[in-house]
Amino acid sequence: MMKNFAVIGDPIAHSLSPVLHQEIYRQLGIDASFEKIHIPPKDLHSFMNNNRLDGINVTIPHKQSVIPYLDELDESAQTIGAVNCVHNGKGYNTDWIGFSMAMELNDVELDGKNCVILGAGGAARAIVYALIQSNVNSISIVNRTKEKAEDLKQWAEKLSDIRVNTLSHKYMNTLSHDNLIINCTPLGMWPNTEVIPEFEIQKDQVLVDTIYNPLETKWLKAGKGKGVKTISGFDMFIAQGLASADIWFGEKISEKIKLEQIKKGLKSELC
Ligand SMILES: NC(=O)c1ccc[n+]([C@@H]2O[C@H](COP(=O)([O-])OP(=O)(O)OC[C@H]3O[C@@H](n4cnc5c(N)ncnc54)[C@H](OP(=O)(O)O)[C@@H]3O)[C@@H](O)[C@H]2O)c1
Repeated sequence: MMKNFAVIGDPIAHSLSPVLHQEIYRQLGIDASFEKIHIPPKDLHSFMNNNRLDGINVTIPHKQSVIPYLDELDESAQTIGAVNCVHNGKGYNTDWIGFSMAMELNDVELDGKNCVILGAGGAARAIVYALIQSNVNSISIVNRTKEKAEDLKQWAEKLSDIRVNTLSHKYMNTLSHDNLIINCTPLGMWPNTEVIPEFEIQKDQVLVDTIYNPLETKWLKAGKGKGVKTISGFDMFIAQGLASADIWFGEKISEKIKLEQIKKGLKSELC
């Protein structure tokens, strides 16, 4: 029987999830549909109580507010406090899995690495969780609102013995050369593509953006210009979707898919 899936959010018009999932169904001959549904906060209650979908991806601003409508949470979603994937009344977080898969796809070894996170919102929290699972050496959090950076630090310290500190923007230029720097802010995202996180990029740093529109932010272009390794949010986006499909279909969809074909389809949709 045909299965039906959707991504919900507000706004949602920009979402590339339908293109991603429809391409998965096409490649694997799966009989399923995937749509985007605009759900403003006032409609979440009614939607969650009445929908008959086989699986849901959840995006901004519902990743936390969806939790009271679920019967249970997967351990990582419980710890991160955010859900981006729902199946049979259970909430999961595949953002952190997406990040870890993207690092693997790009041959980035996280174990023992010194990492800097720009931002302290939902994406930053999921990525800090992923970094802890991968046993990095240290995590530094840089955020506009100091209190939020401090909150994230305290949360991370409760999860492991990994060294976590907060860092002021002005110390960014004193970082050692081999840091992994992950942008978890919307700085550089379409339509404000000229904005860039302000610090000097050093040789041997690895720059990771969570932004995938544009595919390559001005910051990543600047990094490439300096000869450093750069990774776009595109791989993380694709991987979080594949991890959701793994949950919905109960099999390793992510290992059966031709990634290059998915990327081609998605790239044609980007600005
Ligand atoms: N590739 C993927 O699969 C994927 C998945 C999830 C998210 N993302 C991306 O991750 C980014 C963050 O999303 P989120 O869900 O974490 O959002 P969020 O919870 O709203 O957090 C946004 C963070 O960015 C900071 N920020 C916002 N505007 C800023 C500015 N003008 N200057 C400096 N800092 C600023 C905020 O700082 P304050 O604390 O000071 O407000 C906050 O720390 C977005 O670009 C999103 O597209 C990508």
